[in-house]
Amino acid sequence: MCGIVAYVGPKDAAPILLEGLQRLEYRGYDSAGVVVSNKGLKMRKVKGRVADLAAVVPARFKGGLGIGHTRWATHGAPSDVNAHPHLSGDERIAVVHNGIIENADELRAKLEADGAIFLSETDTEVLSHLIARTVKESDSLEEAVRTALKRVVGTYGIAVIDSERPGEVVVARNGSPIVLGIGEKEMFAASDVAALVRYTRQVVHLEDGEIAVLKADGFNTFASDARETAKETLTVDWEAGHYDTGGYEHYLLKEISEQPDTVARTLRGRLDDRFHIAHLGGLNMDARETRSFRRVKIIGCGSAYYSGQIGAQLIEELARIPADAEPASEFRYRSPVVEADTLYVAISQSGETYDTLAAVQELKRKGGRVLGIVNTVGSAIARECDGGVYLHAGPEVSVASTKAFTSTAVAFALLALHLGRVRDLSPADGRRICEGLRRLPDQIKEILALEPQLQELAKKYAEAPSMMFVGRVRGYPVAREGAQKLKEISYVHAEAYPASELKHGPLALIGPDMPTVAIVPDDELLDKNLTTLGEIRARGGRVLMVGHRAVDPKLADDCVVVPRNEIELDPILLSIPLQLFAYHAAVALGRDVDKPRNLAKSVTVE
Ligand code: AGP
Repeated sequence: MCGIVAYVGPKDAAPILLEGLQRLEYRGYDSAGVVVSNKGLKMRKVKGRVADLAAVVPARFKGGLGIGHTRWATHGAPSDVNAHPHLSGDERIAVVHNGIIENADELRAKLEADGAIFLSETDTEVLSHLIARTVKESDSLEEAVRTALKRVVGTYGIAVIDSERPGEVVVARNGSPIVLGIGEKEMFAASDVAALVRYTRQVVHLEDGEIAVLKADGFNTFASDARETAKETLTVDWEAGHYDTGGYEHYLLKEISEQPDTVARTLRGRLDDRFHIAHLGGLNMDARETRSFRRVKIIGCGSAYYSGQIGAQLIEELARIPADAEPASEFRYRSPVVEADTLYVAISQSGETYDTLAAVQELKRKGGRVLGIVNTVGSAIARECDGGVYLHAGPEVSVASTKAFTSTAVAFALLALHLGRVRDLSPADGRRICEGLRRLPDQIKEILALEPQLQELAKKYAEAPSMMFVGRVRGYPVAREGAQKLKEISYVHAEAYPASELKHGPLALIGPDMPTVAIVPDDELLDKNLTTLGEIRARGGRVLMVGHRAVDPKLADDCVVVPRNEIELDPILLSIPLQLFAYHAAVALGRDVDKPRNLAKSVTVE
């Protein structure tokens, strides 16, 4: 949510900032701005996309120090004035910010009483005015920022420059990510490694409460009490090419199409043919500890939560441990009972989602054991957890999650296999699941080959004002994720219900204007699902069935037939045609597929 880039070094900052912002645009895209320091601060900011900003940044914007921002509005509507950076009244200090300052109104009133004139409606502008005051009484910009932040309540990742100190940028973090990039006689900072990988793979993650001072020849980090901190440098294995569309029209289609490879990467080196178990070295638990859990509680937000529902089902089926999933955003606010014999699992593609991070922190505070299923190596949630499983799916750029969703479900299958095989899952069933997992990449290729059919179906159904998605038990999270994909990128209203719940209310909605996507796996519930299809058709509802075999045309207008795997693993495959369906519906409706309105990729605010 919002992207920050900072640069200090021998090159001109502006092109580097613009390039970095382009890479971060998926985090927020309603306005953007840059400021460079060269005998005073030179700033441009606009409502719109980074391309709109690039069009107004003049070539004469020289200077080797600068900060930039791409915004997802929280305080104040998207506008040129509300776009970041924000300057102090004397135009000495410039700030970009990601997060929310909760006491902004109170600080603003005090600053206004002291003579400050505010230009924007943002919470961020209080920071530039505050730092402009503290800098006059401080020996360094770092000290000024630290003193100002002591008055701030809320979350922030910030980058600050001072026109009177043209060789340094100060960044700070509390709840919103900041990562430093170490170059050759140049330093970078950003809210995401995506902005850095073109220039360096050597990165350092800031912790909450830390402040860093970046100069061309290096950096220093400090805790909030001004003590210098020691940092570990990580080498990221994501490359600049991972952030290109690779010849596809949209990132989303690229990421859907990558899934045979990304699933193979999630599985790589983790299946043991001797004991038919999954090796998950990052769990940091021995077999005795692994056996001691009596419940599994899974938390995540949005699609991560839906993949957690698939995970809970897999764990109950394969390990016979009671498991359930809950939105992390709900879990963290309801003072959950945290038990020593419950294994908590937090899911996050980005590893930054604030609600999930806060839920993990609440769990840790109460002594809970938390595993993370995370895609972004070294991210805040990954670092906060006691252990976990990395997805190795590569960066996911499109706002709608696809490959990370699928890899998360695969990671849960591995975890369920692992938990099952230290309990009562037989070697024969362990082997069956291992073999099923190995078949997934090729079966995903077969499903991707259905794209022309799904494109036609998407065109046919995209005109509907509203769609129902239904599934039973294993099919229900698949239906929820299918509805989520459709609504977030095509803006077609979609509801997901357990198939058996239809007759308890939502059947009243069914009619020719409300088609249903029904998930109908060939499992022990097939007959029940076919009865549901009959009930929908009897009310004049159109049905698009996604399952393992075509059904009687009296029960469904259209059938998408996907390959069968083991019944426990089928939800992973059944989700993929729904991604292509949503993608083509969004394209047919002319939507901004990779950057849907009102959304951002990483939700780093509450
Ligand atoms: C998915 O399509 C959504 N964009 C969204 O629900 C997402 O899954 C959610 O915000 C969680 O993100 P995370 O996995 O990065 O924590």
